[in-house]
Amino acid sequence: MKKIAVLTSGGDAPGMNAAIRAVVRTALDEDIEVYGVERGYIGLIGGSLNRMDRRSVSDMVHRGGTILKTARCPEFNTVEGRRQAADVLGAFGIDGLVVIGGDGSFRGMKDLSDETDLPCVGIPGTIDNDLAYTDFTLGFDSAVNTVLSAINSVRDTMTSHDRACVIEVMGRRCGDIAVYAGLAGGAEFILVPEIPYDLDALCGEIKKNRIKGKSSNLIILAEGAGECYQMKKDMEAKLNGLVLHTVKLGYIQRGGTPTMADRILAARCGFRAVELLKNGIDGARVVGIKNNAIIDLPVSEALAMPRVFDKELYKIAQILGR
Ligand code: ADP
Ligand code: F6P
Repeated sequence: MKKIAVLTSGGDAPGMNAAIRAVVRTALDEDIEVYGVERGYIGLIGGSLNRMDRRSVSDMVHRGGTILKTARCPEFNTVEGRRQAADVLGAFGIDGLVVIGGDGSFRGMKDLSDETDLPCVGIPGTIDNDLAYTDFTLGFDSAVNTVLSAINSVRDTMTSHDRACVIEVMGRRCGDIAVYAGLAGGAEFILVPEIPYDLDALCGEIKKNRIKGKSSNLIILAEGAGECYQMKKDMEAKLNGLVLHTVKLGYIQRGGTPTMADRILAARCGFRAVELLKNGIDGARVVGIKNNAIIDLPVSEALAMPRVFDKELYKIAQILGR
């Protein structure tokens, strides 16, 4: 292995820069040349590759976003788009590729590798934590901590004014951000796509809480389970005059300084990714973390695994929020 490329794809996530740094510096340590691809698969198709050195990744282990920029690239979903990307990789003499992204990016990486036999390694980079094969994805811990600090602030005001508030968080079809932040933030209710909920019952509980003397209520709503402005309308109709406040956190939770956990995960995954390429692999693999050990497996196996929602954690959050 003489030359590898690295790219970030899909939604940005805190820790992506730390992963790029780990890939670049591990590769250079092994005398492997590294090229950074700009804007994910768009840059691969368009030939936007730049040679990286140790200084290219200076002063960014602590920064959110991605210095390589990221994008969604519908063209890469086509055989023709991937053929163009393969031509570019051939022209640059790239013999291994590291893709930092989520399940969509991994699907693209798998297709490319199946069609070209290029050795590829995926590093899970998404705040959503929606990949079944790994306990955590890069950016999840940082996003949860950002949500947590928002919950703390909103809680102060809700308690001072005896108010109720729905806080909507991201996660696509995955409820993990809501569950982890809700449990750590002491939320009264957590609504996730994995567990059906009943609005009448929820409104009944809020009314009961007021009778019990619990006058502030925080409802953490995962975006996959509903939309906070609609939920406000639907619930206020059942709450006999009680006003429901809303906070939609949006992109606040995607950016920001990566936490220690995300930086360490980035370092470990980046290191393993380069080791795999250096030692030689067939096709595309992904790296991740299971029981605090770094693992790697074929991307096809990883993508075929059904995601298991942590019902126990959800139950603990429900009991502690009462
Ligand atoms: P994420 O990687 O965070 O899940 P997306 O689902 O938006 O983000 O996917 C990122 C990019 O990966 C897409 O814009 C596209 O270029 C590529 N991609 C996604 N799914 C496929 C697929 N089935 N085949 C080829 N490329 C894909
Ligand atoms: O995958 C990360 C994520 O932030 C999801 O939580 C969210 O649904 C989506 O990306 C939003 O994407 P966009 O960048 O298109 O707003």
